[in-house]
Amino acid sequence: MRRALLLLLPFFVFSCVHRQNSLTETEKERAVKIGNEAVMKLMKELKTNLGMALKEGGFPKAIDFCADKAQKLTQKVNRELVVVKVKRVSDRYRNPADRPDAFDLKVINYFRERLKEGKLPPYYIAESKEGGKRVVIYYKPIRVAPFCLNCHGDPKRMNPEVLRVLREKYPDDRALGYKPGDLRGVFKVVIPEKELEEG
Ligand code: HEC
Repeated sequence: MRRALLLLLPFFVFSCVHRQNSLTETEKERAVKIGNEAVMKLMKELKTNLGMALKEGGFPKAIDFCADKAQKLTQKVNRELVVVKVKRVSDRYRNPADRPDAFDLKVINYFRERLKEGKLPPYYIAESKEGGKRVVIYYKPIRVAPFCLNCHGDPKRMNPEVLRVLREKYPDDRALGYKPGDLRGVFKVVIPEKELEEG
């Protein structure tokens, strides 16, 4: 009983926005599996291509690559996924295409609070509606690793060529000044509820 209450706690926090979570354990497990698969697919696509750009011309080349390709690769992954949709979202976004909606922002703040307490959960599942259809949203936190600071760190310590490209391509860039371990944003996977049915 106590465990059930603890599991429900995060849903009470958001219940003012979304109706209370009514998923069965099996549906939740499926949401986690489908969500993780979509996240892995996007992550692999971005990593492989970033790695190739880095090899070719270091960070200045890679920054050009990210700016040109990150959204296109995300769209490619979504075409392959067909019904499930995956994207990256951040409260301090670099590309306005990754701007959070009001609910995304609540989840990001929820993750940030838990991280402060040293209890960052591996994911968060919410229910919502999109285009009149019921969907389940799987959120996975994205944290900053030392490597990320080459393009998301303290501008004073960054390669000037990288900064130049960033300023040119993202005049309203909010994604600088992070430290290792910070919450950078979330992966957001939207799953139509009927995908969670068994069989
Ligand atoms: C070579 C430079 C570079 C490196 C290294 C890099 N990023 Fe980025 N990152 C970018 C660029 C450029 C964008 C904007 C892409 C776009 O226009 O869609 C971006 C966007 C993002 C976004 C999407 C949200 C937003 O702000 O638009 C997240 C999340 C993110 N990066 C996390 C990370 C993490 C975590 C790492 C380390 C594992 C990392 N990045 C390493 C350049 C980089």
